[in-house]
Amino acid sequence: MKALLVEALSPDLSGTRLADLPDPVRQPGQLLVKVRASSLNFPDLLMTRGEYQFKPPLPFVPGLELAGDVVEADSGSPFPPGTRVFGGHKTGAMAEYAVVEPGSVQRIPDGLSYPAAASLGAAYVTAYTALVEIGGLKAGQWVLIHGASGGVGLAAVELAKRLGARVIATTGSPDKVERLRAACAADAVISATGRFRDAVIELTGGALCDLVFDPVGGDVFDESTRCVAFGGKLLVIGFAGGRIADISTNIPLIKGFSVVGVRAGEYARRFPARGTAIRAAVLDLAAAGQLVPHIDRTLPLSRWREAFAAMAGREIIGKIVLEP
Ligand SMILES: NC(=O)c1ccc[n+]([C@@H]2O[C@H](COP(=O)([O-])OP(=O)(O)OC[C@H]3O[C@@H](n4cnc5c(N)ncnc54)[C@H](OP(=O)(O)O)[C@@H]3O)[C@@H](O)[C@H]2O)c1
Repeated sequence: MKALLVEALSPDLSGTRLADLPDPVRQPGQLLVKVRASSLNFPDLLMTRGEYQFKPPLPFVPGLELAGDVVEADSGSPFPPGTRVFGGHKTGAMAEYAVVEPGSVQRIPDGLSYPAAASLGAAYVTAYTALVEIGGLKAGQWVLIHGASGGVGLAAVELAKRLGARVIATTGSPDKVERLRAACAADAVISATGRFRDAVIELTGGALCDLVFDPVGGDVFDESTRCVAFGGKLLVIGFAGGRIADISTNIPLIKGFSVVGVRAGEYARRFPARGTAIRAAVLDLAAAGQLVPHIDRTLPLSRWREAFAAMAGREIIGKIVLEP
């Protein structure tokens, strides 16, 4: 089968190539899936560079999440051959075939395309875990969402709006403000550069934000500490901006807010019943047509280099999908 293969870690993808590999062989209990779509996530990019907290042994096939058709399963499996499934684990999705554990996939609801299903897991589950499960989001609250043109950020905007929040979405690329405004239902889209607190004060009438969702970090995190309302939460999602910020502990004390780390995957592993409930909630919203992943572009797997470059170059609004 054709598969992307990371043989050496490198910042410029020089250790990654499209390879011909033997088809993977499933063990009893596992599923063999013919992959129809695989969506790119920032951790995929970090893993090819060795910059992600999870470091798979080399060589490895990258790809966090996929959508496809089960082609082999145990008899009596809840996912018999022909079942459309989506999900995945930490690697292996960017290939023509993948072996997955039944617990890491779900059925694709009728009417949802493979590219949309491949874009549902990481982004919306992360957004739901952060905003609803950990953030306790309530209708009417103000939510500031950074990195809103990214996969996770745009999912958070859509979910927060669905749940009745008032959303300020940000982008660190001023030239993307108009495109982002057209792509999402946020109440306002602002540039997260410089003193964006002024815009937050104006938009919220001085109330500031109950929740701040931050997948960017660095200067964006620093300025965000000035945008959280008393009793609010600053949700640490990631560091796409590259710098991990420091915070003096007197700031959350004086301003009465919490800084909370979110690891959606780990949260589900440690609290499996909660993880199942979160995935079910996301699936229900998607099946009802209330969450529709915004797919910036779909490319054949052979054009993987273009896809990775587009993500690294911050060209994308929403998700980018690879089809083997
Ligand atoms: N905590 C969790 O459980 C969890 C789960 C999944 C992902 N994550 C993390 O969430 C972050 C976003 O992931 P994603 O898949 O949504 O990535 P993505 O689609 O590439 O989005 C990241 C966004 O961050 C913004 N950004 C700001 N500075 C950037 C920089 N220097 N380089 C690249 N982007 C920059 C970009 O938007 P603008 O150009 O508009 O500024 C970009 O659209 C990553 O750090 C990822 O590791 C965390």
